[in-house]
Amino acid sequence: MRKSVLLFAAAILLTTASGAFAAGGAVHPVQRDWSHTGPFGTFDRAAVQRGFQVYREVCAGCHSVRLLAFRNLQEIGFSEDQVKAIAKGWDIGIPTTDEDGESINEDGEPITRAPIPSDRIPSPYANEKQARAANNGALPPDLSLMIKARIDGANYVYSLLAHGYEDSASEDTLKEAFHIENTNRKHAYEDAMKQYDDDLDKYQDKLEAYQQAVAGGRKAKEPKKPEEPEKPVVVESVEDMGLSDDMNFNAFFGGWGIAMAAPLSEEAVEYSDGTAPTLEQHAYDVVSFMTWAAEPRMEDRKRIGIKVLIFLLILTVLLYFVKRKVWSDVH
Ligand code: HEC
Repeated sequence: MRKSVLLFAAAILLTTASGAFAAGGAVHPVQRDWSHTGPFGTFDRAAVQRGFQVYREVCAGCHSVRLLAFRNLQEIGFSEDQVKAIAKGWDIGIPTTDEDGESINEDGEPITRAPIPSDRIPSPYANEKQARAANNGALPPDLSLMIKARIDGANYVYSLLAHGYEDSASEDTLKEAFHIENTNRKHAYEDAMKQYDDDLDKYQDKLEAYQQAVAGGRKAKEPKKPEEPEKPVVVESVEDMGLSDDMNFNAFFGGWGIAMAAPLSEEAVEYSDGTAPTLEQHAYDVVSFMTWAAEPRMEDRKRIGIKVLIFLLILTVLLYFVKRKVWSDVH
């Protein structure tokens, strides 16, 4: 009984773990070195700041970061005055009312004021409907917790942005994507052929019954011959994937087609600290920013964890000596 429960649990674990990436097909993310990983990892403040710039200049046009207030930016090294200036210069205002309590002006436009540091960073769209309408029906998700919401989040989003689109994917990545897709298609075809063989057997039986009925002068419905499944197209290029026109190929996105066109490119953003504005750097920086946004207290958490471990270590040594002392008469 217990063994079967264990086996069952193991089976579930195995299927869910391997299914996560296989579903719909996607290449395993490129692994990068991050300053924030490991028990002593800390945020690379300069990268997080540059990443905020990338977010502001590129991603903020479509994606919100609902959980961040402007003043949180002080935690990544912006001064109070810089934060004030960032809030004031934000191109989306906060809805408010005028002296008469009106929330829309004479032209029917919502009345807004410039954000202040205690405001949350405003979302680019007023609501989901507007967001979808502006993006061909697709919804740009909020980025506050995105890094935590995806398996291997930092590497995944980095790969998606810097190495996944047709123009930025390496030859090996493309090859792997085509290989995965061809394997999936082959399996789907084999399954369909099995089903077809079964259906064909059933059809033969029905056909015989039908012919007998007709020969005996009885009324009967002629059975329909099953259709043979078509052989799958072998994928040798992105075009062979057969994605619809409003979808962009991305090797790391489940099912290959993503509604977001490649948002980053070389020199998409101009850095003031002299960092080379490559596509990879932009992706690295914006992912550093998103990682901070998803867990601003990460450094505290790690610091406390290490203190607790040191405390427990000292306590263990002390308890050992106490034990020796207490039992010394007995030994
Ligand atoms: C023109 C609008 C637009 C811009 C600009 C844009 N995105 Fe997107 N993004 C989208 C849309 C639409 C989706 C939903 C795609 C889908 O579901 O197929 C999306 C999805 C995503 C996802 C989710 C992928 C997943 O696994 O579900 C991430 C992460 C993301 N974008 C990051 C970014 C970052 C980082 C930037 C800035 C560098 C950015 N986006 C810029 C429109 C945009």
